[in-house]
Amino acid sequence: MKHRQIGNPKIGIVNPDGHAIGLDIGATSVRAAILAHGTNSGRPSVSVHGLGHVDLPAGAVINGVVCDQAAVTTALKQLWAEHRFECRNVILGITNQQIVVRDLAMPNLTPEQLAKALPYQAREVVPMPMDQALIDWSALGDVDPATDTIPGLLVATPRQPVLAAVQAVEKAGLQVARVDLSSFAALRSIADEQLAVEAVVDIGAHITNIVIHNQGVPKVVRTVTRGGDELTDRIAERMGMSRAEAELAKREYGLVGTHREVVNALREGIRPLMAEIRSSVHYFGSSNGGAQLERVSLTGGGAALLGLADELANTLQIATNSVMPMQHIRNRHASKEANQKDSELSATAVSVGLAMGAAA
Ligand SMILES: Nc1ncnc2c1ncn2[C@@H]1O[C@H](COP(=O)(O)OP(=O)(O)OP(=O)(O)O)[C@@H](O)[C@H]1O
Ligand SMILES: [Mg+2]
Repeated sequence: MKHRQIGNPKIGIVNPDGHAIGLDIGATSVRAAILAHGTNSGRPSVSVHGLGHVDLPAGAVINGVVCDQAAVTTALKQLWAEHRFECRNVILGITNQQIVVRDLAMPNLTPEQLAKALPYQAREVVPMPMDQALIDWSALGDVDPATDTIPGLLVATPRQPVLAAVQAVEKAGLQVARVDLSSFAALRSIADEQLAVEAVVDIGAHITNIVIHNQGVPKVVRTVTRGGDELTDRIAERMGMSRAEAELAKREYGLVGTHREVVNALREGIRPLMAEIRSSVHYFGSSNGGAQLERVSLTGGGAALLGLADELANTLQIATNSVMPMQHIRNRHASKEANQKDSELSATAVSVGLAMGAAA
């Protein structure tokens, strides 16, 4: 899934050396994944050529939105310099609470007519003024002869946060070839082709993206402003710890460790996020004829919380696992960064998925 209207079509999605770069700007860090697309025994293959991240100061990115452009630009310059990345065309991930993803059937029109008709159709379902929105639509099937319409997926995002991120990237001397939803990127790098119905849940520091797909087609896409940082804040407040101490305690004990107060604070703190995941699963079931999920696949740094997968599996009665973004990638050990520890690797799902989308 990709945005066709957003990004500059004159800038190559694949760099002159054959590499595609996915760039994820999250609350904790900027992350790049460099992938090469090729073929192996006649089938498309992908190999990892580099992974890197540079931490961001608190407040630079809040709830997915770039708030301090200069800090993001500085981190990006550092990322490129430290890793000696040579290519400059990137696929940029975006996420924010106002993004709307909906099923929308469009009349069977020429591409030019479709572009003109889209804002009028979108206006009916998107709760933001069209002049402040970026909209895109992708067909999801063939023309329905009964209605002469094509089933498809509408994506709308407020324009301002996208422009703020693009500017921060361009000031670092990089070029944005395409903008793609972070949640679609996580779906691409995490979803298991063997499963028909699966939820991919990317738990970040501020934001959790939930996508439930049926045969790879997103059916429920939700962005909630909940993540790992609120758990840290809760421990810090409860226990009178600094944020750094609270972060360490969170990682050490999780939902299952021996420190009763920390574990209790985390169990309470994680409940609203678990409720969001549960309600997305129920919504999917009720809007898809009671279809059952085969698995919940967790990714993002927040998915490393000890005991979370088991807790979700018990609550939802659905198999739940933490999934590594490299599972579908050949040559996954091509760079030393690909051997990072699990929670760091799991935070690369979006950047890897963005770069994987270059083949789409
Ligand atoms: N071992 C661990 N146990 C529990 N939480 C962890 C662990 N490792 C990382 N985290 C949490 O993961 C979160 C960061 O995840 P991630 O790097 O995916 O976020 P991000 O992409 O920077 O943020 P966002 O997507 O919200 O903008 C932090 O809240 C951090 O405390
Ligand atoms: Mg993230």
